[in-house]
Amino acid sequence: MAFYEQDVGTLIDSEKLQARIRELAAQITRDYQGKELTLLVVLKGSVFFATDLAKCIDLPLTLEFLGVSSYGGGTETTGEVRITLDATKPMAGKHLLVIEDIIDTGLTMSFLLENLRSRHPASVKVASLLEKPSRARTKVPIDYKGFVIDDVFVVGYGLDFGEKYRNLPFIGFMKGK
Ligand code: IMP
Ligand code: MG
Repeated sequence: MAFYEQDVGTLIDSEKLQARIRELAAQITRDYQGKELTLLVVLKGSVFFATDLAKCIDLPLTLEFLGVSSYGGGTETTGEVRITLDATKPMAGKHLLVIEDIIDTGLTMSFLLENLRSRHPASVKVASLLEKPSRARTKVPIDYKGFVIDDVFVVGYGLDFGEKYRNLPFIGFMKGK
């Protein structure tokens, strides 16, 4: 029995994730033809999605990483968003595709988009593997969306509960939460 099986059930399995990611990548490949694409990966949760997505995009691209924190470690946002690690390269003139694991209340992404616009990129779009529309507190446009999910707390494939379970190869839900 795997270490997580007692606490975590499967919501979206690995095959389904990878199939959807290939579709998103094909769409991104078409949309960014002839443009210099930068994937701006929001740490830490989006790393798994970003690397799988990047491998399926048939374009030259660059990767930048940016850390944000909106949680005190529990399952509810504090509403306060901080940049904990900034990208190393200037964003001016770049075609940015922000890569997120999940858009829940939308507060993190709306903060980030406002911050990025002040850096004068050529364009900014959003790719999010998951969206929980039932919890939205502010409307954020998601240009490339993997899956819409119900209001359940999910873990795995980058998503954590108290920093744990990021390494599960699928999207799971916490049993009894
Ligand atoms: P938002 O600001 O409420 O949209 O939250 C965005 C961030 O909260 C995501 O990048 C995740 O790190 C975290 N988050 C939101 N929902 C979940 C969840 O169900 N599981 C794990 N992390 C989550
Ligand atoms: Mg996150």
